Order: sequence, then C-alpha cells, then structure tokens
Amino acid sequence: MAVALTFRRLHPHFVAEVSKVDLRQVHDRETLAQIRSGVDEYAVLVFRDQPFADDEQLAFAQELDGRLHSKTGISVLRKSRLGNEALGDISNLDEDGEILKGGDRRRMYGLGNRLWHTDASFQDPPGRYSMLSAKVVPPVEADTEFADMRAAYDALPPETKAQLEGLRVHHSIAHSRQTLGFEFSPEEQESLTGAVHPLVRLIPRSHRRSLYLASHASRVIDWPVPEGRLLLRDLMEHATQPEFVYRHSWRVGDLVIWDNRATMHRARPFDDTKYRRELRRVTTLDIEHPALASRNS
Ligand code: OGA
Ligand code: MN
Repeated sequence: MAVALTFRRLHPHFVAEVSKVDLRQVHDRETLAQIRSGVDEYAVLVFRDQPFADDEQLAFAQELDGRLHSKTGISVLRKSRLGNEALGDISNLDEDGEILKGGDRRRMYGLGNRLWHTDASFQDPPGRYSMLSAKVVPPVEADTEFADMRAAYDALPPETKAQLEGLRVHHSIAHSRQTLGFEFSPEEQESLTGAVHPLVRLIPRSHRRSLYLASHASRVIDWPVPEGRLLLRDLMEHATQPEFVYRHSWRVGDLVIWDNRATMHRARPFDDTKYRRELRRVTTLDIEHPALASRNS
C-alpha cells in the first residue's frame, strides 16, 4: 500500500530526512517512485529506525534501483566476511567480529574511506545508489560527510564550466590507496585497471549537472598528467568547501541512501582500534536502464 512520504531538508543545498516509514514493507511502485524522486531532488536521504536484516536490505535495494554492484570495496582484495559480495562490510571487524588491529592490512585498506570519494568510480559500471545501514555505532563521533557535487558544479564560473565540458577522467583504486602509501602486490595491481568516466555528468530526471570526482580520479584523459592532476585537485578543493558539505551523525538503525553521481562522501576519523563500528552497504549498478524489479507493482 502506498505511503505519503515527506522530506525535511537538512542542508541548504541537499539532504533530507524522510518521514516515518518501514522500508522493509515498501514494495509498491508509488512509494518507490517517491523515494527515487526524493533522491533526485536531495541526493542524500536519511531514514531513521530501519532494522534491516541483510537479505531485506539486499531486496529493498533491488526493488529501488535494480541490479547490485558486487565489486565496490574491499571485495577487490579479499572475500567478504559476510558471504555475499553485494553486501559491503563497512566495519572495523574481522571474521570473528574482533576489532582489527592497528597494522592490519584490511584496516589500512578501509582507511581509504576517509578520502573523499564516490563508490566504485574505479569500476565500469560504477555505483549509482548506495544504501548504508548502521548496526553498531561507537559512543564517540564517527560521522560520514557528504558533499553536493551539483551545487559545487553550479557554483563554478562559466569559463570553467565550458573548459570542463567533454573531459574524461581515469579513476583507479590503486591511485587513491597509493596516495596513502598502501601497497598492492603485482597480481593485485593487474586486476585493478580502473575505469574512465566523464568529469561532468548530466543526471537523468533531475537534469542537473554534477562534478564526478573522487580521490580515485588519477588523471584527465588526453591531458598531460601534472596538468590534469592540478585541475582535479582544484576541483576537489572547490567541491568540498564547507558550504557544500553535510555531516551525518549515525544512530543505530539509520539507513542513508545517496546518489553517487551527485555526491562525494568520506568517513571521519575516530578511535577505530578501540570502538566497534559496523555498517552494511548495498550499492546498485550505474547502468542506463536499471531493471526495476518491483514485486507488487
Ligand atoms: C561507504 C563509505 C563511510 C563511512 O560505506 O561507502 O564510504 O563513514 N562509508 O563509513
Ligand atoms: Mn564509500
């Protein structure tokens, strides 16, 4: 049965908290369409009190936006402890549920989430919607920040917009992790070729343009490497100014949905060798025609 949702804006440019709803019960076409148009408008939606089991989270994501991404995070390096490659393990825990030690390679890799990024931009197709569900949150601040890349684009001077049109950028996980000094074996390197995406994206339905950037962005195709890197750096600096940034403080049960084409995000540091933090992420594939799989539509 359709529910009428209302959206309460949390930031001047983007982000809304959605009125009370149990997303596990949402299967009808109309409510799903309201959520999609909420994402079109706000780019980030916050739902409180969503006690998803893993299979329910996976099912909801498919109903909302079709096919799931299975190569977004640490799965590029190792098998997930959760047993399903579409279920992203956003935690500081090992297979036994113990907190990862300071020098653990998995922890080092996960620290890359503290760089501004979009999910799976180093893949083709990249990620479209990410849905992150909070299971365990520390008693200290361990927030996630989001930046509105449409507002950042809109604020550029017209000459810069004209200069960026048509540029393409190579994104690579090896690049972003190497900026932190993380090393890949030659075999890992080989499987990490990266992907090329437009720098400016026109988002269907909202018809807005956005800067498609990430710390994975390594070079501008057809430009000398240093010049491209300088451009990317300037744009990152521009797009992450405080006026474009929202900071989410997690509560257990939160589900946050964001559009990776319209935003960047990063984890903020906390004492992760001391406190448990456990979230699960499901991300859909950014393909042209999502095979929407509404059950009761
Ligand atoms: C993610 C991510 C940031 C965080 O789930 O894709 O980058 O704060 N998370 O855990
Ligand atoms: Mn991420």
